[in-house]
This record gives sequence, C-alpha cells and structure tokens, in this order.
Amino acid sequence: MADDPMQEDTHKPWSGRFGEPLDRLAQRFNASVTFDQRLAEHDIEGSLAHARMLGRCGIIPAKDVADIERGMAEILAEVRAGRFAWSIEREDVHLNIESRLTELVGDAGKRLHTARSRNDQVATDMRLWLRAEIDGLLGVLKALRTRILDIAEQHAATLMPGYTHLQVAQPVTFGHHLMAYYEMFSRDTERLVDCRRRVNRLPLGASALAGTSYPIDRESVAKELGFEGVCENSLDAVADRDFAVEFLAAASLSMTHVSRIAEELILWMNPRFGFVKLADRFCTGSSIMPQKKNPDMAELMRGKTGRVYGSLVAMLTVTKGQPLTYNKDNQEDKEPLFDAVDTLRDVLSLLTEMLGGLTVNAERMRAALSEGYATATDLADYLVRKGLPFRDAHEVVAKAVKTAEAAGKDLAELSLPELKAFSPLVGDDVLKFLTPEGSVASRSHIGGTAPTAVRAAIARARSRL
Ligand code: ARG
Repeated sequence: MADDPMQEDTHKPWSGRFGEPLDRLAQRFNASVTFDQRLAEHDIEGSLAHARMLGRCGIIPAKDVADIERGMAEILAEVRAGRFAWSIEREDVHLNIESRLTELVGDAGKRLHTARSRNDQVATDMRLWLRAEIDGLLGVLKALRTRILDIAEQHAATLMPGYTHLQVAQPVTFGHHLMAYYEMFSRDTERLVDCRRRVNRLPLGASALAGTSYPIDRESVAKELGFEGVCENSLDAVADRDFAVEFLAAASLSMTHVSRIAEELILWMNPRFGFVKLADRFCTGSSIMPQKKNPDMAELMRGKTGRVYGSLVAMLTVTKGQPLTYNKDNQEDKEPLFDAVDTLRDVLSLLTEMLGGLTVNAERMRAALSEGYATATDLADYLVRKGLPFRDAHEVVAKAVKTAEAAGKDLAELSLPELKAFSPLVGDDVLKFLTPEGSVASRSHIGGTAPTAVRAAIARARSRL
C-alpha cells in the first residue's frame, strides 16, 4: 500500500475523470474483495496465461512478461502464506493483485491489463475456480457412492419393508433401498460432468464486451488454461452466468437427494422404527433432557438444502433483468456460488462418514415387515398365475388381509386351511410365496429387489465407478 493512506484512498485505476473520492459507504458496498479474494490463485493463473500470450503476440516485450511472472510468483507466495495485504480501497481481487504487481515490478504491472477488462477477467476466474471445485466434488461423490456400494453389498439380502405413502408396501432388501440412492448420486455425478463441459470455456479476449483491437491469440490462452474452447461471442462471454446457474441447479438436485436420505435416517433411528443407529459422534444431546440422542447432523443436511435452493434462485434472479452485457449485478454471483459449493462438499462428506458409522438392526426391519401384510401383492400374483383375473385376486386378498388383521396375524401366519378358504385356487405351495424371502427372491429381473439382482447391480456399478 502507498505510504499515505488518504492518497491511496482517493486514487483508483478508474478514477482519472472523477472530481471527488468515492463515498465511504459506497466504497464498502461496491467492494467485493472480502469474499472474492478466494479467487486469488485463479486470478493469478489467468493473468499469467494472458501475459504470456501478450508476449508471444508481440503486444508487450518479453522483459515485461518475465517481470510479471516474477511479481506474480511473489504475490502467490504472499497469498498462500496469508501475508497478502488485502484492501477494500482496492475494491476487488483483480485490482488488489494488479496494484500489488505494479508495486513489485513497476511498469510491467501496468501493462498486464492490455487487451483485457475485469469483465472477461472475472468471468475467467469464476470458471477456473468452479471447474476446480467441480473436480473436487466429483471425488467426494465418488467416495460417497463407494461407501453406499459397500453397505449395500453387506445388506443385499437384509429384508426391510418398502414403503409407499409411508405405509408398509412390499418387502425389499436394505441393499436395494441403498442402491436407489446410489443411482441418484450417480446421476448427480453425470450432471456435474456435463455442466463442467460448459463451464470449461474461455471468456478472455472478450475484453469489456466488444473484443479487442490487439492481435491476440485466444486459442493459445485457452490451451494453456486447460479450457476446452473459447466463448464464441464476446458479449455473451462477459454477460452470462448460465454456467453458474447450471451448477447450482445440479447442486440443488444433489442436495435434494441428500435431504431425502437424511430424512430417512432420522426416521429409521427413531425408536418406533429402530432400523438403524447413528454413531454417537454424529449425534448430539439435549441440555435439558438427559436421555436424548438427536440426529442433528442429518437434520442440518436436510435444512441446508434450503440454503442451496436459495443460491440457485438468487443466481437466476440476479441474471434475469440485466440488459446485455456486463453489469455490476454480476458481482452478486459469488457468494451464493461459494456458499453452495462449500455446503454441498461438507454435506456429501459428512453423509459418507455418517453412513460409515451406521449400525443396521436387521431384526427390527424384519419385524416391521411382518406387521404390514407386505406380501399381499404376492398372494394376488400367485392367484393370477393360477388363472384368476388380477382385479378378482385383489378382492380375494383384501378379504384375507381383513381376516388376518382381525386375528392379529400376518398372512404367512395363517394356516393352510384358513388360506384355502379364501379361494379354491390356493394350493399347498402357497406359503413359500407369502414369506418375505420368497417375495424378494421372485423379483430377480434387472432393477429388482432380489438379493441376486442387487448383487448384480452392485457389480455393474463397481465396474463403471
Ligand atoms: N468485482 C467485479 C465482479 O465481480 C469485477 C468486474 C468489475 N467490472 C467492472 N466493469 N466494474 O463482477
């Protein structure tokens, strides 16, 4: 920073034509450096690629490029060590770094911004940052999917009630139930991979909005920065943030999936269900009720979903009314995006850990199954195979359920003569279809809940992962 803070305060890279310094509140309101300093490493990376291109194209001398590289190495070290003196007088990450560069290397620093604007610079930084974060998230999702596969494998044959309307519907296996989430998190992965392709295009070269009159080489900058291509319209390059919207939509869906499994864990750990126990290290107690063990982490995962949806709506709304091209509204893209990335990463990591500490109570799952007439559909299917139309079979079984209910028994607990009384089509072989084991085993097609089908699904998943 300059020796005289007042001097520093009033001088801006853009203030040549201004008659008075920026209002104090306006200064704070306008500055983004408190949050966008997070982009620093990518800002430096982008600037270096830009400077090298300017050198290659003969727009600035080789000596300047060398000075910029030297200065940026120093700045990077300062940033990493937490020694960089961020200042809100210098507004944002871009001007902070550029000013520091000029302090360190003089005129070469002032030439860095040739053929560039903060508009294409910030769009580039955001894309570089988000690309790296997506790569990190893909790793986190992979760990979660692997964890799910491991538990599903252990419980490929563990019986539990499948629910519709939160009423016992049909027997499934716990492994099959978990594999439903595996599918969801796999699609989340696909969405991020797909979104990454559109994130991964270079805005630099668009300059403020109209491109630049210097003989630049955008393709070489794209190549150096690992972009798959360049943004093909300069106005679009600085104006749109649809890549951020897309990411936030994908993140929102992933949070939806997290929220649903979190809700199920909460339900299953309630003693009325008692299907699972969450490890103590992922629960909290009550300061007034000594007996309590609460699933706070799972509840927070469910709760934080709203926060990510909020970021999606914020980003859509920030964009919707803006005339082309860049407007300062776009500075509002950062905090929602940063927050959504951090939230999703934390939540996915925590879920992976929490599932690792899960204790499954197979007896309780099995007991719940025998309370809900879960094999009624199997009895109907049995009668259909013997020739009864399905609607008639449905009637017959409904009566059987009513009788069993009055006797306080499950269907499989009725005696053979009792069952035969419902229909002359009931034969001696009926009982094996009324057990949950028989029920799940018969659903052995692809996508079915039979232990064989679940193990096959797990094997397919492992070979693709
Ligand atoms: N801090 C700004 C942002 O986040 C950088 C671009 C500023 N451009 C401008 N013309 N004021 O969008």
